Amino acid sequence: MDVQHILVTGGAGFIGANFVRHVLGQTDMLVTVLDKLTYAANPASLTGLPSGRMRLIVGDICDEVLVNELVAEVDAVVHCAAESHNDNSLDNPYDFVRTNVVGTFTLLEAVRRHDRRFHHVSTDEVYGDLALDDPIKFTEYTAYCPSSPYSASKAGSDHLVRAWVRSFGVRATVSNCSNNYGAYQHVEKFIPRQITNLIDGVPPKLYGEGLNVRDWIHAEDHAAAMLRILRNGKIGRTYLIGADGERSNREIIEMILLAFGRDPQNFELVTDRPGHDLRYAVDATPLRQELGWTPQYGDFSEGLAKTVRWYQENEEWWRPVKHATEERYTRQGR
Ligand code: NAD
Ligand code: TYD
Repeated sequence: MDVQHILVTGGAGFIGANFVRHVLGQTDMLVTVLDKLTYAANPASLTGLPSGRMRLIVGDICDEVLVNELVAEVDAVVHCAAESHNDNSLDNPYDFVRTNVVGTFTLLEAVRRHDRRFHHVSTDEVYGDLALDDPIKFTEYTAYCPSSPYSASKAGSDHLVRAWVRSFGVRATVSNCSNNYGAYQHVEKFIPRQITNLIDGVPPKLYGEGLNVRDWIHAEDHAAAMLRILRNGKIGRTYLIGADGERSNREIIEMILLAFGRDPQNFELVTDRPGHDLRYAVDATPLRQELGWTPQYGDFSEGLAKTVRWYQENEEWWRPVKHATEERYTRQGR
């Protein structure tokens, strides 16, 4: 479809900013970002972009009047805004239900009213977890079984999107992606937390025994997949996004320590996360075969080294929020 102007919710967050950068670099589209600028946002992630093609509107996706007005102005909505951190969802689930469920509902009603294309960005965590030794991966047919308030709220939002497609004919797609890494990720998340701890001379913190497995994908590869789905995805379809990047948390920490020239065993084991999902793994075959997407970051260690360099070279981006983030972790015993 011909899309000239898109509304990107949560565009000042990690995935949103990577997506906005990708779209402005690869297409001629205009981008309006709607972002509440919560603690997780950083408007600096959107600096250096062509101002004539991008504008930032500070506001809430639960604000029906504002959402209605902005949706009317665009051809399509790419919905990235969310409360996104599992650890926080254990302390304050209300914000997750409000933004992830009520916010998605508010956007769906607006795209229904104005008949706009909608792409919903979601997570593989809606499927729950897999055993460490299980050869299977998540597919679009895996039953939903979310574990945390975060993943349950994302699961709820996915179900709303499908119901709005079926009941009201809304032109929507859903993507469920695995764990992302790369530039512009908040330092509360696993990889940037450890990189910035090491810059500060603090040993990395590993939850439990560090055996949990995540399936890592670079955020730029995720952004390219999202754009492909927006343009060529089949209405009503769910696409899983992943780059065959399964690694245990311990392996990742060892790689980061080595990148800093440190002893790979010099990490600290801290209290495990309650209900901690063991393993995620995504089968992205339909995305690769039907939409012709392939990840550009085939070599995880290269992508990780680039990410380490980015945090070393962009301290002014993350430094202002580092202290408060670590204080929050100290309160949680992690
Ligand atoms: P993030 O926390 O970095 O960014 C979220 C953004 O949403 C922030 O800019 C925040 O200000 C904004 N926001 C929050 N509540 C809002 C509201 N009520 N109104 C308007 N804006 C609001 O999160 P992220 O990592 O960029 O994740 C974005 C989406 O991608 C989420 O839906 C998440 O489930 C999904 N996802 C993330 C990953 C990952 O590894 N980060 C993996 C798969 C899927
Ligand atoms: P996270 O980045 O919070 O993503 P998610 O919970 O969505 O997978 O965490 C990734 C993995 O790293 C998860 O298994 C929890 C673990 N973890 C640590 O071991 N130490 C940490 O300091 C953090 C933040 C996470």
